[in-house]
Amino acid sequence: MSAQKTSKKIAIEDLLREPYRQILCYPDSNEKEAKNRLRQLKKLKIDSIILQGTTEIAGLKILGKGCVSIVVKTKLNGRSFALKIRRVDANRVSMDREVEMSTLANSIGIGPKIHAHTKDMIVMDLVSGADLTTWVRSLNGPGSTLKLRTILGLLLKQCFMLDQLGLDHGQLSNLKKHVIVGRKLVILDFESSSSSRRTSNVTSSSQYLFVGGPISKRVRRFMRLREYDTIIERLRDYKTNKNEESFLGLLQQVRL
Ligand SMILES: Nc1ncnc2c1ncn2[C@@H]1O[C@H](COP(=O)(O)OP(=O)(O)O)[C@@H](O)[C@H]1O
Ligand SMILES: [Mg+2]
Repeated sequence: MSAQKTSKKIAIEDLLREPYRQILCYPDSNEKEAKNRLRQLKKLKIDSIILQGTTEIAGLKILGKGCVSIVVKTKLNGRSFALKIRRVDANRVSMDREVEMSTLANSIGIGPKIHAHTKDMIVMDLVSGADLTTWVRSLNGPGSTLKLRTILGLLLKQCFMLDQLGLDHGQLSNLKKHVIVGRKLVILDFESSSSSRRTSNVTSSSQYLFVGGPISKRVRRFMRLREYDTIIERLRDYKTNKNEESFLGLLQQVRL
C-alpha cells in the first residue's frame, strides 16, 4: 500500500497525548495551548482526524506542512475535509487574514472552499491530486500537449480572474507548492495574499511556466514555444495594461 493510502483515525481527545499533540501545536507542543486548540476542534464539531498523506511530522502522516501551518485530513458529518492548523511558531497571531482572503477568492469560485474556522484553524475542501510541477514532469506520450494546454489554460484563467478581482495571491512565483492538479485545478493557500497590493498572479505564474521556473523548458518544449523574448514582451504589455486584450495577447503568444 502506498504511503498516501495508509491512514489512521485519531479521536481528538487523544491529540493531547504525545506524539499526537504535535498535530495541534507544531513544532513546540505545550499542554495549555493544546487544550486551547482542543476546545477549538470541539467548537468546529470535529471528533477525529485522519493521519494520511505524504508529509510526516513526528512520524505521523499529514497532508502537508507550510511555514504558517500544518494540514491534516478530517471528517465532518461523514464528509472528508482538510483542516489547516496554525503552527505555534507562525509569524501571525491568527488565521483571520487567511480566512478573509480565501473567502474573497471563494467569492469567484477560486481556492478550496472554506467551511468553518476558529482563531487557529480552518476547515476547507480537501483537494486531491498532484502538485503542478510533479504533474507536468509526469506528462508523457500522446495527448500530453493537449492535457498540458487544458491545465495551463485553467490556471492562467484563474490567475486572470484573481488579477481582475484585485487579489494578489503572493506566492505564485513558486507554483510547485500552491497549485494542485486533480479532478480540478485548485490554487491553494491565500495566507500571503493581499487585496491592496499590485496584483501579479498572471505574470508570476507565466514567468514560472514559460520563462524561468524549473519546468519552463519542458513546458516550452511541449507547447513548441521557441523564442521567449516575445513572451516577455507580452508579459510587459499585460503588466502595464491589465485587461482582457493584453491577457488574450499573452495567451496567443504561449499557444493557449
Ligand atoms: N485544502 C487542502 N487539501 C489538501 N491538501 C492541502 C490543502 N491545503 C493545503 N494542503 C497541503 O498542505 C501544504 C501546506 O499548506 P499551505 O496552505 O501552503 O500552508 P502554509 O500557509 O503554512 O504555507 C500544501 O502545500 C498542500 O500540500
Ligand atoms: Mg504555503
